[in-house]
Amino acid sequence: MARILTGIQASGRPHLGNILGAILPAVQVSQKPENESFLFIADLHAMTTVKEAAIMKENTKAVAAAWLAFGFDPEKNFFYRQSRLAGLHTELCWYLSCLTPYPMLANAHSFKDKSDKLSDVNAGLFTYPVLQAADIILYQAQFVPVGKDQKQHLEMSKDIASAFNRIYGETFVLPEAVIDEQVMTIPGIDGLKMSKSYNNYIDIFLPEKQLYTAIKRIQTDSTPLEEPKNPDTCLVFRLFSLLATPEQIEELRQKYVAGNYGYGHAKKELLELILTRFKQEREVFDFYYSNEAALEEKLQQGEAKARRVAEETMAKVRQQIGFA
Ligand code: ADP
Ligand code: TRP
Repeated sequence: MARILTGIQASGRPHLGNILGAILPAVQVSQKPENESFLFIADLHAMTTVKEAAIMKENTKAVAAAWLAFGFDPEKNFFYRQSRLAGLHTELCWYLSCLTPYPMLANAHSFKDKSDKLSDVNAGLFTYPVLQAADIILYQAQFVPVGKDQKQHLEMSKDIASAFNRIYGETFVLPEAVIDEQVMTIPGIDGLKMSKSYNNYIDIFLPEKQLYTAIKRIQTDSTPLEEPKNPDTCLVFRLFSLLATPEQIEELRQKYVAGNYGYGHAKKELLELILTRFKQEREVFDFYYSNEAALEEKLQQGEAKARRVAEETMAKVRQQIGFA
């Protein structure tokens, strides 16, 4: 049985890039009988930047609803908010911070980057990697799938866990990062990497009209309607190809090269494709998004399950430190 864990910052509503690049692959892994997946919303980490209660709640709801919509099974796996187990996560974080060398944190790329860019450089940003290490080893996770940007954080988690084992005796499983270099970068409506920070994303959970408005903003060139068009340089075609069957892709390619087919037509087809391909996911998302009690129930069940695992680890940790 492999224990896999990952945390998602609730920094906005998940977009097509997050879905194809992170949610779908993680759900597939979690469905294998030999795996046990821990998936949590890193809302304590989000606090380093999100300072408004309404936004925190909103993002958490959207992220949780999106994972359930794409088939993450919280009964087979573990699904929880870090804040609801804050006592355990931050207790371990403190213990680990006493073993973490100051220069390791001061030299972290992500801290240096954020402290250059953000106006609010708080201590939470500085100790961010220690809390992340606690999140992982609290559940004795073996594998941690993350994006490339998290590589250094994962190396730090492993170093911090080994320091604890060296000083207090074997306690923690040493976690390994799983970084899929193959994951395609999904382009946004301007051709750059789709990202919340570039405001170039497609939110597939929007109501149809707003979704269409977002699709209409996809950049295209000015080839006149009558002329043949090159599908290989067109963003609408690229996004369509990521979601369509080979037959549908070939059909659209023919229309492009034949001419008398405009980008407006292609955008309409992309809209239809998103609506049919994600029909069920959009329904499940809307259900959880508008039914807070149902979402709360799933999360609270997950939190109770996760708490049992975390308590077991902490009983051992306190004993090793001499606090039992
Ligand atoms: P964003 O750039 O929108 O803030 P995050 O950095 O929160 O997205 O990424 C969350 C997850 O989604 C990560 O695993 C990341 O690799 C994946 N992801 C984000 N954007 C894309 C994209 N354009 N293409 C593929 N995967 C993406
Ligand atoms: N730092 C991660 C990110 O920004 C989120 C995160 C918090 C995380 N704790 C984690 C990821 C533990 C993996 C494991 O994406």
